[in-house]
Amino acid sequence: MNVLVIGRGGREHTIIWSLKKSAKVNQVYCAPGNAGISQMATCIPYDELQFDALCKFAKENAIDLVIVGPEEPLFRGAVDAFEAAGIPAFGPNKDAAIIEGSKAFSKSLMKKYDIPTAQFAAFTEYEAALDYLHKQKAPIVIKADGLAAGKGVTVAQTMEEAEEALKQMMVEKSFGEAGNEVVIEECLFGQEMSILAFVDGETVRPMVPSQDHKPIFDGDKGPNTGGMGTYSPVPHIGQDVVDEAIQKVLIPAAKAMVAEGRHFKGVLYAGLMMTESGVKTIEFNCRFGDPETQVVLPRLESELVDVFQAVVEGTLHEVEMKWSEDAAVCVVLASEGYPGAYPKGKHIKGLDNVKDAVVFHAGTKWNEEQMTTAGGRVLGVTAKGATLAEAQQNAYKSLEHIHFDGMQFRKDIADKALLALK
Ligand code: AMP
Ligand code: GLY
Repeated sequence: MNVLVIGRGGREHTIIWSLKKSAKVNQVYCAPGNAGISQMATCIPYDELQFDALCKFAKENAIDLVIVGPEEPLFRGAVDAFEAAGIPAFGPNKDAAIIEGSKAFSKSLMKKYDIPTAQFAAFTEYEAALDYLHKQKAPIVIKADGLAAGKGVTVAQTMEEAEEALKQMMVEKSFGEAGNEVVIEECLFGQEMSILAFVDGETVRPMVPSQDHKPIFDGDKGPNTGGMGTYSPVPHIGQDVVDEAIQKVLIPAAKAMVAEGRHFKGVLYAGLMMTESGVKTIEFNCRFGDPETQVVLPRLESELVDVFQAVVEGTLHEVEMKWSEDAAVCVVLASEGYPGAYPKGKHIKGLDNVKDAVVFHAGTKWNEEQMTTAGGRVLGVTAKGATLAEAQQNAYKSLEHIHFDGMQFRKDIADKALLALK
């Protein structure tokens, strides 16, 4: 099979690394990819939204399967474009990607189908939103409706902070059109967990659970990022709770989408909070998580390409997936200043000395013969181990070999689980 993966981050690098384990997979292309991806696939110079050029490339190069990684092309209809050109594509259609593309949509879906989530109200008028806000108490959560590259959520600790976030979104339009509508939501408390599932209509095949670390600094301090590290499994959260999430959140969501005429196929990602009153849904994403993928796919023992094909062909109900008992930990190495402004073009050294981990590239670029930084999140170092503690040790030992100017990373990835188990 010839495969084309769309995207340029650690998620796409991991998908390609996993696909390459299969003897069935012949040529792998990536658009546009990054320096790390170019070491295992042919990178082609199209960006994720150049649908016409990508369809033409796929036809000319006998591509058998396209995998769309990020949310933006999905929400803008990438899979619809490939399908219209007769090219099999993995990912939800535009109509189904709205589950991530509009928070007002996903919140009303949850309400209509009794999927547990935080209390909320949605507004298109600033005055009405402000009025509602003043009847609530802090802490409170303000969310831009549309895609905002992971920055559209403010967990406001004070009423002033909430007012400011609302004004930024609705009056100053900091997130452009994404802020035309806002969701004001009750603040939930508890441990977070991500469950990603392959979905094809009403069939749901959950992957192993993982936990992300969104804030930039140790101890969950500082502003939110795209994710600074992950681990899987999540041993301090019991299988009964994982099962509850699958039964009460993921399966009903897949069914609800079918009932709405928005048949979802691809990866459905549930961001969950384990509250005192049970599992609640924080959000749905319409794709693999980044960096959740970096710890989930390394634990998959079945062939990823078979699962992709089953979803595309509508035969997921015939698929059983096998998962390794090993634990995996991914530590993200980020540029100085991230998630704010950061420099690019810093020389990355020592990658060849890493032995007990896989390094997935998130933001790297060749400059002549040199590997350099090209993003906020630069690398994800994933290590496995028989236990979570061992995986954590392997990841941190391995990253000692790697260096670039200003490199920052969290030193406490997986500590939450390890402390809870003590
Ligand atoms: P999102 O961009 O939707 O992934 O949200 C970013 C982060 O904001 C989540 O991972 C949570 O940590 C936090 N968050 C979102 N909604 C809530 C909520 N209702 N209560 C508490 N925290 C939340
Ligand atoms: N790691 C969070 C996300 O992919 O949305």
